Amino acid sequence: MNVLVTGGAGFIGSHTVDALLAAGHAVTVVDDLSTGVRANVNDAAILEQVDVRDAVVLDGVVRRARPDVVMAFAGRVDVRHSIEDPVQDASTNVLGSLNTFSVGARHGAGRLIFASTGGALYGEVHAPADERSPIRLLSPYGVAKYAAEQYLAWVSRQFGVACTTLRYANVYGPRQNAAQEAGVVAVFLRRMLDGDPLVINGDGLQTRDFVYVQDVVRANLLAMTSPAGTYNIGTGASTSVEDLVALCTALHGSVAVVQHRQAVAGEVRDSVLDAGLAAEQMGWRPLWALEDGLRQTLEWFVGQAESGRHA
Ligand SMILES: NC(=O)c1ccc[n+]([C@@H]2O[C@H](COP(=O)([O-])OP(=O)(O)OC[C@H]3O[C@@H](n4cnc5c(N)ncnc54)[C@H](O)[C@@H]3O)[C@@H](O)[C@H]2O)c1
Repeated sequence: MNVLVTGGAGFIGSHTVDALLAAGHAVTVVDDLSTGVRANVNDAAILEQVDVRDAVVLDGVVRRARPDVVMAFAGRVDVRHSIEDPVQDASTNVLGSLNTFSVGARHGAGRLIFASTGGALYGEVHAPADERSPIRLLSPYGVAKYAAEQYLAWVSRQFGVACTTLRYANVYGPRQNAAQEAGVVAVFLRRMLDGDPLVINGDGLQTRDFVYVQDVVRANLLAMTSPAGTYNIGTGASTSVEDLVALCTALHGSVAVVQHRQAVAGEVRDSVLDAGLAAEQMGWRPLWALEDGLRQTLEWFVGQAESGRHA
């Protein structure tokens, strides 16, 4: 199939592009390289350096690429950035996503797949949230992602296109950008390797559902042929930030210096997803244990440090 991947120079997008190419698909990447990097983009993919907010240019790219499937990963991932600059967050996460959906549908794509979020939609949860759990939007990022989901549903009705929303938990793995506050695993590993203290916002007892990027990639590819719908993609396991620090330092064989800062308003305290529907409808289950995924991620960060590159 012809697959168009927006955000394909980023963390999740670039791994997905690699897997699509390995499965024999032809891939066009659309990315403005604002947080993604060219080096992430597989040489076998076509890279179009385009801002998804530019409807006219995007239209030309999609018309040429004639994708069967559009995967919309381009976005701002940083909740704190969304609090500081909600307008900029919305311009990419709402308008950029809407452009992508409507241009894809107008040019005949049969399937649209959107990268949404579980944590920022369900808010505080004390048991794994499934897709019917109440939506509690605590940050502009959550508002924008939820708005984009609603636009996707509208595009699906308007154009009769099969649309799938994947609500990821906290994704981690090689290539995650440590310069963005969003990826706590990447931030911790980078700082650990640089010998810098690990900064924990709040008491460290806040919990997250960490899902390895290769598990997310498998979900993205399964979504191309599974029944359309909205699916959580997470492990169902809660890990505290304090436990994450302990796991990272044990793998690295070092003792981390930890500093505590004030908790950030707008960030949820506990977040964990029930991915039972994805298991039932898509045949998806997480296969990576946290420790194994962290080991792979650490190895990648060590390799980056040794080659003088900074993620
Ligand atoms: N990483 C996570 O834990 C997580 C969790 C839930 C949802 N998501 C969603 O998954 C998607 C990918 O996230 P990621 O972690 O790979 O982040 P990332 O920052 O590595 O990737 C995003 C990519 O989008 C590109 N981009 C940003 N704005 C753009 C624009 N206006 N036009 C074109 N390209 C643009 C960036 O250059 C980058 O390559 C995002 O939509 C994010 O909201 C991520």
